[in-house]
Amino acid sequence: MTAEIIYGSELAQSLRDEMKEEVTELKKQSIVPKLVVVLIGDDPASKSYVSGKEKAAQYIGIDSELILLPSDTTEKDLLDRIDQYNQDESINGILVQLPLPDQIDEQKVIEAISPEKDVDGFHPINIGRMLTNQDTFLPCTPFGILTMLKSKSIEIEGKHAVVLGRSHIVGKPVGQLLLNENATVTYCHSRTKNLKEITRSADILIVAIGRASMIDADDIKEGATVIDVGVNRTEEGKLTGDVDFESVKEKASYLTPVPKGVGPMTITMLMKNTIKAAIRHNS
Ligand code: GUN
Repeated sequence: MTAEIIYGSELAQSLRDEMKEEVTELKKQSIVPKLVVVLIGDDPASKSYVSGKEKAAQYIGIDSELILLPSDTTEKDLLDRIDQYNQDESINGILVQLPLPDQIDEQKVIEAISPEKDVDGFHPINIGRMLTNQDTFLPCTPFGILTMLKSKSIEIEGKHAVVLGRSHIVGKPVGQLLLNENATVTYCHSRTKNLKEITRSADILIVAIGRASMIDADDIKEGATVIDVGVNRTEEGKLTGDVDFESVKEKASYLTPVPKGVGPMTITMLMKNTIKAAIRHNS
């Protein structure tokens, strides 16, 4: 079997085109979605993500403001700023790029953002809403993965979905979203025993472990759907996923590439959440 490649980049582009039209319509009703992105320090990976977010916002017509702060910013300064953005009615979404420098408590920051402006979907209130299957801001990468699966009408209900990785940003919430769609979900992580046995029984395998070529054809079931969330750099600086693309593509039925796979979808879903926040704030 040769897998159909799911290009998140193409789906992201068509969604961004749709959102651009939606924002044009919103602006006719004087609704201008606005996102504030806070970046602390000068980590190159974070800078690159943030610049992708800026570009997407600009394309769609979302008003975005980038706040660049030095790496020695205090927790109090950041919390004061968040308080100010929470109160500013022109701002619909607030995103503080993670990770944060050591002197700042990440969880405190996440919990300081108003749940109604938490377009990352990281606030415990929004996580709770997701858990109980209520309407909320879904975390962007899991939301992007679900949208990719749905775009290909890949059946989720009753399927065995295996999630490799249990991060708060990807692994845990993507498993929850698949459970909400009636999949039978198994989480695997660094302490899992008999990993291969489990991954080989997956109809849908989500790989978010952060190790290049962790999964190859021998680890999957014939005809599985494999979603690669990995973002690793080779020695030559090339972007590569957690899945050995060449071997897996000969055995899977669907496979996402890296780059051009999940990455562009994450940013696109952030834009979707920002528009949703703007509509909510104006209704
Ligand atoms: N760092 C890596 N991914 C993310 C994300 O989705 N949101 C935020 N705020 N920081 C990140």
